[in-house]
Amino acid sequence: MTLSLELSELATEIAREAGELARRRRDEGVRLAATKSTLADIVTEADREVEALIRDRIREARAGDGFLGEETGAELGESGITWVVDPIDGTVNYAYGIPAYNVSIAAVSGNPEPESWEALAAAVNAPAVGEIFTAALGHGAWLAGNRLAVTGETPAGALLATGFGYDPATHADDLATVSRVMPMARDLRRMGAAALDLAYVAAGRIDGYFERGLRPWDHAAGELLVREAGGAVSWIDSSATRPMLIAGGREVHAKLHAILTEKR
Ligand code: IPD
Ligand code: CA
Repeated sequence: MTLSLELSELATEIAREAGELARRRRDEGVRLAATKSTLADIVTEADREVEALIRDRIREARAGDGFLGEETGAELGESGITWVVDPIDGTVNYAYGIPAYNVSIAAVSGNPEPESWEALAAAVNAPAVGEIFTAALGHGAWLAGNRLAVTGETPAGALLATGFGYDPATHADDLATVSRVMPMARDLRRMGAAALDLAYVAAGRIDGYFERGLRPWDHAAGELLVREAGGAVSWIDSSATRPMLIAGGREVHAKLHAILTEKR
């Protein structure tokens, strides 16, 4: 078995167990542990517990690998593989009881920095809806035994999704971006979980997605899902404080890219 398939199987197994834990804790009632960058940026006790479980499972299976997690930060490894983990992506949905949250796990090779790493394997588990999206480099993206494919032309306009960061100071700029792309859209969705936005692009449930200010754990797994489903992912303003990720089927990605890089 190739390394990417092996890592994908492990990512899926761990994401399944971690998702079950997240869902169980959700059913028992969510307790806030802290707020982070802003009042809207929360962390629950479950985020921490789920990340600890994932970290333990990875250590048990592959002791030499590195780790980069939203809640506990980075630990260098010596194998050249790093696991990039968001224990609960869509924490605000989780706290409110909206089922659009997920456990996002990627295994990447090379330098543990998004600009230089290559994603090898991904698993995005949305336990409240019973869906695990998986991908292995060179082996496609999958959901429940079905190979995923992004959408093509969108003659009736593209169904787009986006997200806004937690800092209220950035909302006006994000809304201005939305009004720039609306002429190419049939409608816009705002799901509140970046890894699910990307998984839905991969599954052809939305045609394109854009968002500024994502962190590595928000996009590492979802990005591989989109690429392995035949889609394109790129970054605009990569040196700015809030670079923008654009993802979609090739046609929609190209249109979004043209609109969002157009000089005004
Ligand atoms: C957030 C979600 C949200 C996105 C934010 C992310 P979190 O992740 O993915 O959709 O708009 O930028 O930070 O905090 O729920 O793990
Ligand atoms: Ca998170």
